[in-house]
Amino acid sequence: MISAIIYTSTSGSCEYYAREMSRKLAIPCYDVKNCGLPKGMEVVFIGWLMNGKVSGLDAAMKDYDVKGVVQVGMGAPTDAQEKVCRSKHGLGADVKVFSLQGRFDMDKLPVYFKPVMKMVNKSIVARLEGKSNLSDADKATLQMAKTGKGEPATWDGINAAIDWVKETREPLDVMKWHEPT
Ligand SMILES: Cc1cc2nc3c(=O)[nH]c(=O)nc-3n(C[C@H](O)[C@H](O)[C@H](O)COP(=O)(O)O)c2cc1C
Repeated sequence: MISAIIYTSTSGSCEYYAREMSRKLAIPCYDVKNCGLPKGMEVVFIGWLMNGKVSGLDAAMKDYDVKGVVQVGMGAPTDAQEKVCRSKHGLGADVKVFSLQGRFDMDKLPVYFKPVMKMVNKSIVARLEGKSNLSDADKATLQMAKTGKGEPATWDGINAAIDWVKETREPLDVMKWHEPT
């Protein structure tokens, strides 16, 4: 049974998603740094995309039984991202993967990430600016890349992960509640 949600976050998106899951499922959430949970515990891991990999996931998988992964990036979520995540982190078919858009905030990044992200943002602007028919998520990405700060097109994508956890829960065996102890 999934007993905790653990996350990594630099600008707050993964933390927000973790808190939403925690609130709606009544499961505790923790920053993965020094969370001190028992080894092998079944968890959902929420982490931000760093150069196409989910930051902190490989380390978390050594300590915990990761049943679900929520990967969060500044780009528009695509179906292809799930496959990439599975192959880069060696996830089995039994691990559920969700791809969500999060915020980008240059001011909240450690200094060593800033030069590379300035370059990445320039290339994103070159790719997206002036294109017609951009999705709302693409428009959000373009705004982030142009200004160095921006919010995702929606924060509601986390509801799919919340619904999945609800479905994985075993139904309560009401009859057992009435058995004499
Ligand atoms: C060094 C670095 C690399 C990143 N690489 C990616 C990436 O490969 N794909 C992507 O969509 N977003 C990428 N991002 C953007 C973050 O994943 C995005 O801003 C995410 O919402 C941050 O989550 P947080 O708010 O919880 O920190 C990168 C950001 C940084 C600083």
